[in-house]
Amino acid sequence: MTIDFQQNFQRTATAIALLLACANMAIADEQDAHLAIENPAELSKEEAEAFYRSLTRRMARGYAAARLDMIRNYQNWPVFNDAPYISATHGQRYVNSYANRMAHNYGTLQEGEALPAGSVLAKDSMTVTDEGNVHPGAMFVMEKLREGASPDTADWRYIMVLPDGSVFGDTTGNRSAAVAYCHDCHEQVADRDYTFFVPEEYRVAN
Ligand code: HEC
Repeated sequence: MTIDFQQNFQRTATAIALLLACANMAIADEQDAHLAIENPAELSKEEAEAFYRSLTRRMARGYAAARLDMIRNYQNWPVFNDAPYISATHGQRYVNSYANRMAHNYGTLQEGEALPAGSVLAKDSMTVTDEGNVHPGAMFVMEKLREGASPDTADWRYIMVLPDGSVFGDTTGNRSAAVAYCHDCHEQVADRDYTFFVPEEYRVAN
């Protein structure tokens, strides 16, 4: 099972890198997006955590400009990883996995179970280059809508917020086509209500 996942990730990671590169070009003159980086620095858990701590306030301020109520205060939610980890499927960034209180069973979900409506999963990110430059990255959001609200995406809403708070795409709002690929990939884990969860070596119980 795990190995299948990994193979799928690798195959799809290239596609994603390309998509993110396109996104980067589209908004290049708006800000220093640093959407995807080619050579993410290899950091220990301690180093990654320290870099992240140095950015948390700036990240919170940036994402807050998107005025998305459902991710306000996400940094106070339960976090399911013990240190930021590189996500090949999200542009080779270092990411964290937060879930709001409504998503109480995110960490323990068994096959066939689902998260309740109102669950919000927020994955913030940072990029760290070989030269040691650290930048806030995009925020990836999944929100479980009420039953029947979005049949095409199994009632999940996907949003990508850029570090300056601009919304890159929202499956229920602006530029929905730009984020349609989110659900396409998350469909691989339909039996876990479309959530992949955190790589084993970074998991913490919550
Ligand atoms: C190529 C596959 C792929 C694509 C495309 C993708 N994801 Fe993910 N997503 C994953 C994987 C794998 C994980 C869990 C491991 C990790 O964090 O990298 C994940 C985790 C998440 C999580 C944490 C919840 C969970 O699944 O455990 C959120 C939130 C999320 N993705 C949002 C998004 C959004 C928003 C987009 C589109 C902008 C997106 N994802 C695109 C593969 C993908």
